[in-house]
Formats: sequence, structure tokens, C-alpha cells
Amino acid sequence: MKITVNGEPHEVAAGRDDPVVDVLRDGLGLTGTKAVCRTGVCGACTIAVDGTPQAACLLPAAAVEGRALTTAEGLDHPVQRAFAAHDGLQCGYCTPGFVVEAAAFVDAWRAGHGDVEPPREEIAAALAGHLCRCGAYGRIYEAVAAACRGEHDDGEVTPARVEAMEKITGRARYTTDVRLDGMLEGVIIRSARAHARVTSVEVDGSPVVDLLPEDRIVRYAGQPIAAVAAATRGEAEAIAASARIGYEPFPAAFGDGPDAPPVYDERSRKNAPSSSEGMTLPASWDGNVRGPFSGASKRGRKAAELIDAARRRGDPLLVTGTFSTAVQVHTPLEPHACLARWDERGDLHLHLSTQTVAIAAEQAARRWKLDPGRVHVVAEHVGGGFGAKSGITVEAVAAVELARACGAPVRVVFSRAEELTDAGSRPGSTTNIALLAGRDGELAALAMDVRSRGGVAVGGMSAALARFVYGTAPRRLRDYDVVTNEPPGTPFRGPGAPPMLWALEQAVDEMAHRLDVDPIVLRRRWDGNPKRHALYERALALPVWRDRPRGGSQTGRFRRGVGVAMASWIYAITPATQVELEVVGDVVVARTATQDIGTGVRSVIAGVLQEELGLPAERIQVEIGRSSAPPGPPALGSRSTTSVAPAARDAARRLLAQGLKPGTEVVGKRRRDRGGYVTPFPMNGMALGRGFSGAVHVTEVEVDTRFGTIRPLSVWGGITAGRIYAEKPARNQCEGGIIQGIGYALYEERLIDPVTGTVLTSNLEDYRIPGIGDVPEITLHFHQEGWDHVNGGGVGLGEVSTVGVAASVANAVYNATGWRPRDLPIRPDRVLEGLSP
Ligand code: FES
Repeated sequence: MKITVNGEPHEVAAGRDDPVVDVLRDGLGLTGTKAVCRTGVCGACTIAVDGTPQAACLLPAAAVEGRALTTAEGLDHPVQRAFAAHDGLQCGYCTPGFVVEAAAFVDAWRAGHGDVEPPREEIAAALAGHLCRCGAYGRIYEAVAAACRGEHDDGEVTPARVEAMEKITGRARYTTDVRLDGMLEGVIIRSARAHARVTSVEVDGSPVVDLLPEDRIVRYAGQPIAAVAAATRGEAEAIAASARIGYEPFPAAFGDGPDAPPVYDERSRKNAPSSSEGMTLPASWDGNVRGPFSGASKRGRKAAELIDAARRRGDPLLVTGTFSTAVQVHTPLEPHACLARWDERGDLHLHLSTQTVAIAAEQAARRWKLDPGRVHVVAEHVGGGFGAKSGITVEAVAAVELARACGAPVRVVFSRAEELTDAGSRPGSTTNIALLAGRDGELAALAMDVRSRGGVAVGGMSAALARFVYGTAPRRLRDYDVVTNEPPGTPFRGPGAPPMLWALEQAVDEMAHRLDVDPIVLRRRWDGNPKRHALYERALALPVWRDRPRGGSQTGRFRRGVGVAMASWIYAITPATQVELEVVGDVVVARTATQDIGTGVRSVIAGVLQEELGLPAERIQVEIGRSSAPPGPPALGSRSTTSVAPAARDAARRLLAQGLKPGTEVVGKRRRDRGGYVTPFPMNGMALGRGFSGAVHVTEVEVDTRFGTIRPLSVWGGITAGRIYAEKPARNQCEGGIIQGIGYALYEERLIDPVTGTVLTSNLEDYRIPGIGDVPEITLHFHQEGWDHVNGGGVGLGEVSTVGVAASVANAVYNATGWRPRDLPIRPDRVLEGLSP
């Protein structure tokens, strides 16, 4: 059939029903059109058909025959320059779709209204069919508004991040975009049972790679059993669908009742996966309950005695409660993907969508018993991760084993259903909290018991994080895992902290009301962190806080409320980080084995080098995303910037000392902080530095008491993480953190069929993440002082910006209505039930 794409006529061999997204990507190699949800929900595959934006995943090829298509690659529009200038992107995976839609909107708006800025709601309505998991919405608003004002009609722009134009024009190559000659497509066969021993696997038409554990037991519906490959994904899916799997079924545990059947026996427990980012600390088991781990307590017995005595005497300054959180799914827009190839020398080449190129290479070398120099991991651009893409995960195992079995490169790309089922989730939780204040209004004791629900995974570490906040009062902190036959939890942006703060920051709010003290003033009194004190002072002066409604004073349908919560996060680094510089012609090339999942680390390195070397942007080139480069940090635990920036500076100074002559090579290192680290030696390559990053969020909401909906109106976020290296990407990342926190507060909830254990929320319609219209006005303040002991003066901010947001939303709801949400997400039915007399 004949189509015209970006002005060029093409004759394509496509079936009439083939989705246009596949025709463009596979037939014409136009990978700027991204396939994400394949259900018309996310907008990542948006193209213009005769000038009208359409979702290419829903369009059959027959519908575009003879028509003119425009993809991001074929656009040359002011809105693209506006996206670059205003940083309307992070990982960039959603960006080509946004840009195509925004271009049509900007043209129509200007034709109808002239060069004036549209109201925010107009932009939100125009882009309502697009999702950005990184939460770059604030910058997208700004970019579209600027393009409508006619600000980017001509001329060059200085992009806010160095790779911006590659992403905006669809040229950036992600793992899902890489194709190799002779490549096969792999598909994973997954368990239909929540708990069973697999007795047989019969497959016709493909080599089979076994993905079962040693005991051949599947412990959740959707667990990988085997993988197959074929020339096309459709063929591989057909082979997988016709596989005959024999099961010996076992009863499954979906709750934590005493009669729940055991998920593990004593032997298999030691192989349970972990949802923890650090080490999984030892704890005992009782049936499906593991724990408690109480090693983070401080004078725990004393805390329990004080709280018991207060309970007995009915002390009004004892706040108690039970709070729960739902399972939150990472769902980065680029799915988990790996393309594996064994070369003729026996070297292993992986294109892998990962936040850990170096760790993935190490793990691959260990797993396949290769010399480390013979594993080559590449992740040039990564479409988000948020903690879910760490190390060698199952898509990589399947691709590597299939590539060996088939003697050809094999690619495995998760479908959105796989991504939402078995690719990463933050465990749900139930927390019992007791918070006691003394007559002097000081914190007297705290007790927290957190039961994490990470499915078959263990390692929930939530209560333990309460050791590091609110001074030194006695506290008993106990973490339990409740193991069920559900998909495993994995580390997710600030693992453990959101459930802890959801309970603690509401209990502190409640205490402030009982003491009749301003909630920010109480935090300032209890909180020993001087850097956060600076944020409290600012927050107290905010008009939105000063003029907030007094609790219980409103009676109408729509009620406005303002709430506050603080947050704390560890300062982690990769001490072994190095940055290599090489002068190639008149360009300085920087290399380190890190990767950019949307954080802007390329721009951080480029910015440091420009500043130190006094060179213009075009004379700096940053090459990351390759394991072969000198050691660099994983994008985990907010440690990228604080690890690479000082190493880049050190390298620049060495280069200056040697002179900028072509051919010169130097390596810079991340030198120790003044005073060293908390950890005596790195664990898994990570050290803990001295001090905690901090945040204070002040959130304003409007509650519709008739429909139970909550509209976030504004968020002020104060962050204390020291020096900010690349201002626009840093702001963007923190705004994205706030937006993910709003998703956690209001919408996100993975649901499981309680009979079969199947994940019900396996598409982006049923698993709801924030869209552009859900985003409030966000104001950020960076408090940059107080980190002089840190080499470079700055620590990470990606995690601290998100972990306390949900609690600030809940406290705002309480301020608006007098009803305190206990369970996440704060769904309309819960609001209506809470407000019913
Ligand atoms: Fe939108 Fe990452 S920038 S999904």
C-alpha cells in the first residue's frame, strides 16, 4: 500500500489491519513513534494524519492508505524548540507524541487567537490524551504556552538538557528502537496459576529457555516459566499461547490470615526476592510473616512502656492509628527491554533498558561465567526506570539464553500488561503507629509496626527509616513482611519512605491539632535537622499557609484545604566513580559508565566541564550508557549527580593541567568527602555519606464533597539537597517527584483478583497515573546551604522530592473536611464514606 510519511512517498508491505505504529517502526524504521500502551491511552505513538493527531496504535494500515503522515522525525515546528528551551521532557520517551499533538494545538490556537498564551486548562485539554510517567508536565505547559506566544518561531535555542533535540525529534535510540540483522523476537510464557508446581512445558516451533526456579514452583500468576523466539513478535506470541503447561496446583495465599497457605518452605525462603535497595537484613519467619526487624529502634522497650502507660491512663497526647498504602507500579513508559547478541569470539553484547549499565555487566559476567571485559552493556537512552530496571532482570536472562539457543540476536520487550504485572512495584503496607507527646509538647515516644506486602518478595524496610527523623526520643520500630502469592515488590523511588511518612506525618499533624500548635511550628520544634529548619521558616511565610482555612470551618460542596509534610532521605554515593576525558580534535569527550533515565546527568557532566574548562557547549561531548567506560554510578538511590559531578570536575582540572591538546586523556575521580562516610567501606559499590537530604511540601487541595474527588491546586516544595548543578532538569525532576506523589496519593492502586491472583490493573486505563490535567501549580525552592563537607556541595534530590507528598495531600484533605484519610489511594468512594455522617 502507498503512504506518504514526512513528505516522502513509500510503498509498504503491510496487512490492512496492521497497526500503523508497527508499519512506521518496523517497516520504515521511524522509531520516534513509540509503542507504549497499544490501547490509545498514553499518546506516545501520536502522529499527524493529514495534519490531525491520531494514536497510531489504534489506526489500521488501511485507514492511512494514500494519506500524508507526519511523525516527530518529520516535524520542524516552533514547539520543538520550545520543548528544548523549557525542558519539556525528562526521559523523553513520551516526548515525540507530545510534540506532534502540541504542534497541531499551537497552530490551531494561534490561527484562532493570535500569539497569546492560552489558559492552562486549554493546554491541559489539548494534551489530555498523553501520559508522562516522569511528570514533566509543568515544563510542557510552559513550552506550549511559550510556543503559542510566538517565542520560538525562529532562531536557535539553548536546550536545557544536552540531548533534548535528539529526543524531541524522535532521533534518540532507546533499547526498544534497536534492531539487528537476523534478529528474532522473544516472548516469555507466564504462569496462569498463582501457586503450583510446573510439571511439564511443551512447546512447538521454537527453542525453549527455562525460567523456572530450581524447585519448579511458580508462586504468583504471571511468573515467568519459559521463553520462546520467532522471526516476528506475533509468531512468538502464537507459539507462547499454544504452549502446553502442566501444573500441580497448590492453594494460594492472598491475605495475611493465620490460615493462609505457606508461600515458601524453610528451604525456599532463602531464595525469596528482595524489595529492598540495600541489603536484606536477617529476620525470623512465622508462616508467611517474616520479622520483625527491629534493629533501628532506639530505646524501644522504653518507648513501648511509655506508650502503654499513656494508653492505660487515656492520655490525650497519645495519637494512635492504622494507615495503609496500596501497591504502586513503576510503569516507566519505555518497557523493560533487552536485545542480546553473542559474537563469534563469545563476547556478550546487550542493549538493555537499565538504570545500572555497570552493575548489569558485572552480573551478566557472573551469571554466564565470562571475563568482565567480554560483556558489553549499552543503554544510550533509557525511557524511565524509577528503581525497576536494576541489574540483570528476566527479560535479559530470556534474551541472552534465547540468543545462545537460536544462534541469533534476540530481543525481548515487555508488553504493557507485563510491565504492569511483573516488572516492578512498591509494596503495599499496613502501619500501626503510636505517637506520644509529653506535657512540655516535646516528642516523648514513637512506636511503628509496618507490615509490608511485597507479594513473594521480602525486605520491606519502612519503620526503620523513622529512626532518622524527629530527634532522639525513644522509639520502637518494627518491620514485617507479609508474604503472599502475588508478584514481587521491587525498590521504587525512596523505598520504604512513602508508607512510613504516610503514617508518621499524619500522626504529627494530628498531634499538632491536639496541642493546638501550628503543624509547621510543631515540626520545627521536634525536627533536629537545621537545613529543614530553613524550609520550615519559608513555609510558614507562604501566603497559602498563612491564609489557610481553619479546620472544620467549611460547609459548602467544594472545600479547600492546605496540608504540610516533611521528608528525609539518605545521602548515598558511588565512591569509585571516575570520569574520563579525551580531547578529540577541538572537542572534549567525557565518558563514564552511568546512564540517563531522565535525570539529566549528561547535562550535569557537561555543565561542570563547561564551567571548569571555559568551553562552549558544542565543544563538550558526553558519552554515557556504556559499561565499557570507567566506573560510574547506577541511577539508584539519588546518587548519580553527587557521584559524577566531582569526578568530572577533578578530570577537568587534570586536563587543564596537561593542556587541551588533541589526544590528551585524563581520568578524574570522585574524591572523599571531608569527614569521610558513615559506612566504613562501600556495600555493593554504595557508601552512605554524612547528613540527610530534606524536603517540606505544602499542598493545597479542593475536595468535592458531592463526588468525593480531590483536586490538587498547588504544591510548594522546599528541598534541601545542597548545590544544584543543572537547574532546569533538577526542577523538572523534583516536579516529577511531586506528581508521582500525587499519583500515589489519589489514583495509583494495583488490584489483584482475589481468587486467581491475576493482576486486574494490567493496562494504563485501569492503572491510573496522573495526566497533565491532574497537575497543580508547583513552586520549588532549593535551599543550597549546609553541604560544605560534601565534595561538590550537593547530594541527590530525586527521592526526597516524592516521598512525603501523599501525607501532605492527606493533611490538606483533613484541613478541608475534618476527615482524616487512612488508606491510600484517597479514592472518591473513601472520601464519601469518610464524610458520611
Ligand atoms: Fe515523559 Fe519520561 S519524559 S515519560
